[in-house]
Amino acid sequence: MIKNDLFLKALKGESVERPPVWMMRQAGRYLPDFMKLKEKYDFFTRCRTPELATEITVMPIKQVGPDAAILFSDILVVPQAMNIEVEMKPGVGPWLPNPVDTAKKVDQVIVPDVNEELGYVFDAIKLTKQELNDEVPLIGFAGSPWTILCYCVQGQGSKTFDKAKRFCFMEPIAAHTLLQKITDTTIAYLKEKVKAGVDAVQLFDSWGGLLEPKDYQEFSWKYMQQIIDALKDEVPVIAYGKGCWFALKEMSQSGAAALGVDWTCEARNARYLSGGQITLQGNFDPARLYSKPIEIKYMVNDMIKAFGKDRYIANLGHGILPDIPVDNAKAFVDAVKEYRG
Ligand code: CP3
Repeated sequence: MIKNDLFLKALKGESVERPPVWMMRQAGRYLPDFMKLKEKYDFFTRCRTPELATEITVMPIKQVGPDAAILFSDILVVPQAMNIEVEMKPGVGPWLPNPVDTAKKVDQVIVPDVNEELGYVFDAIKLTKQELNDEVPLIGFAGSPWTILCYCVQGQGSKTFDKAKRFCFMEPIAAHTLLQKITDTTIAYLKEKVKAGVDAVQLFDSWGGLLEPKDYQEFSWKYMQQIIDALKDEVPVIAYGKGCWFALKEMSQSGAAALGVDWTCEARNARYLSGGQITLQGNFDPARLYSKPIEIKYMVNDMIKAFGKDRYIANLGHGILPDIPVDNAKAFVDAVKEYRG
């Protein structure tokens, strides 16, 4: 039994005395102790070494105090396991020297044995669960197939992912073949994460909002739904789509336990579009953590009032920014913990 089960209760839709809180990308980036580790070990070494991944996962739990931990890793370990080279270049971000931008290259992409290629993730989960000692639940995650395709085809981060879209629209058969391979790998990967001990999983569709609604259905949601179908009876699934407010109705009927929303969608619109029953997660503007702690606290109170304390998980609308002061992150978490509706 997990001692602090607010997050799991909210995922089940049970009533709580206050909403649970965690922050997307809470493990790393803005934490001074993480910066120290960053000087010693490169990014994927940190991901591949269970002791380091565990240490980084637990850091925010001790220093900031959210109600759930999220495993330190990256969505891009999945394409790496599929025989696609992925580097993390300091100052640049993800870098793929050989983008998968032709049908021939798609044919060379493999659906791997996840235990062989990603065993280090499952080891990190087991070690983290020991370290957490059932204090708070542990969240596992994966990128959505569309968001993974964006990096695989574009070869790096982008504001528009124009090359990824061009590939989908000019070579739809190859694009769907790649999306299906990513989906099959992701399902096997998340099932193993559940076996290793995660208490919930989140799908990050960070770039879903770049697609128009019909294309979103075809190139993103269809595959998200396959993953939810495969996992929902084993573990609560949170579907987060940045800029995907237009799909909230469909998402609310998917079997996901909760839906993540960003700050461009007001709480009442998100509730309306998602039918008013499903648990919602979000949606504080990550840049609003630059405000003074006192201002953050007022805004968090308003946010909880707007969503309601039940069927709600307080979070940011996207990942925390790297230069947010730890005290401001703490003000965000504390404000939720102090909420007395
Ligand atoms: O939430 C957590 O704290 C757990 C760890 C986590 C990381 N990446 C660690 C990380 C999670 C959940 C992710 C998800 C991820 N990775 C997403 C989806 C969420 C989102 O923010 O949209 C995406 C798109 C990526 C791909 C990625 N990884 C990018 C674009 C970058 C570089 C820019 C950046 O965010 O700093 C990364 C690197 C990365 N992943 C870092 C961390 C802590 C920073 C680099 C470093 O520490 O060396």
